[in-house]
Amino acid sequence: MRSCWLNGSFVPEDQAQVSIFDRGLLFGDGVYEVAAVFNGRLLDADRHLVRLERSQRELSLPAPYTSTVWLDVMQELATRNEIREGLVYLQVTRGVAERDFAFPASIKPTAFAWARPKRLSDDPNASGLTVHVVPDIRWGRCDIKSTAMLAQVLAKQAAREAGAGEALMHENGVVTEGGSSNVWIVNQGELQTRPVSEDILAGITRDVVVEVARELGLVVRERAFTVEQAMAADECFLTSATSFVLPITRIDQHVVSNGQPGPVTQRVRAAYLARAERLTAALVGASA
Ligand code: PDD
Repeated sequence: MRSCWLNGSFVPEDQAQVSIFDRGLLFGDGVYEVAAVFNGRLLDADRHLVRLERSQRELSLPAPYTSTVWLDVMQELATRNEIREGLVYLQVTRGVAERDFAFPASIKPTAFAWARPKRLSDDPNASGLTVHVVPDIRWGRCDIKSTAMLAQVLAKQAAREAGAGEALMHENGVVTEGGSSNVWIVNQGELQTRPVSEDILAGITRDVVVEVARELGLVVRERAFTVEQAMAADECFLTSATSFVLPITRIDQHVVSNGQPGPVTQRVRAAYLARAERLTAALVGASA
């Protein structure tokens, strides 16, 4: 049985239980992170934990664990569950109290984490993904990685019903981001993605891809674009911790370019994978 972690202890999955009065359950009053496991090692978990600290701070949620503790817990979950490629999920909620919308006076956060395998180096979607366009109906602080995600649940369900693998969210025709990813276009070899603000999540993969692309000598412009511009682009792709870099080859019925993963997208994906390999192989070597 899968080994999970809850409030300081590793427990089998069936013993990892939280109260029906937990505010994560009652209000979505919590934050989370998802980091990739590659070669059995955490990838960029330190960056995810910096974002976790920010999310906690923005919601005045006292951080129950330091990044050092989280790093150990996350790696241990990957190891105990023998994950070679996959993800570690962690969540912190404000905790358990009688239902009251405002913060209860004294309350201890709930913290838990689990891991699961997922194909990353040979992701079946690397041959191209269809996205489904939906209006972005989320709240005004999409920069906080909150667990309150009903809008994304509905967006991704609509995508599934439309036969698409991801939602493409927009505000008045301007792309915000994917249901759980950041979105990019490529024109004449130049990459473009929306600048970070309170309207989108500042993706860790997005940040890394900016670095990787610039190392490849590519120009990256942080500028918003419309759904129409995405449809007319030479290439389109998405990024997230659990998909790395995936080509978008269709936007609803519209085929992007020739319907094949574009050359720049493939170059960036390959460079991202090479970096992941390099970083995690170094860690494997260090502990051998
Ligand atoms: N989601 N935008 C949204 C709305 C997201 O939920 C995510 C990640 C991203 C990409 O961020 P990052 O590169 O740091 O993973 C952008 C995770 C993977 C999830 O909810 O499963």
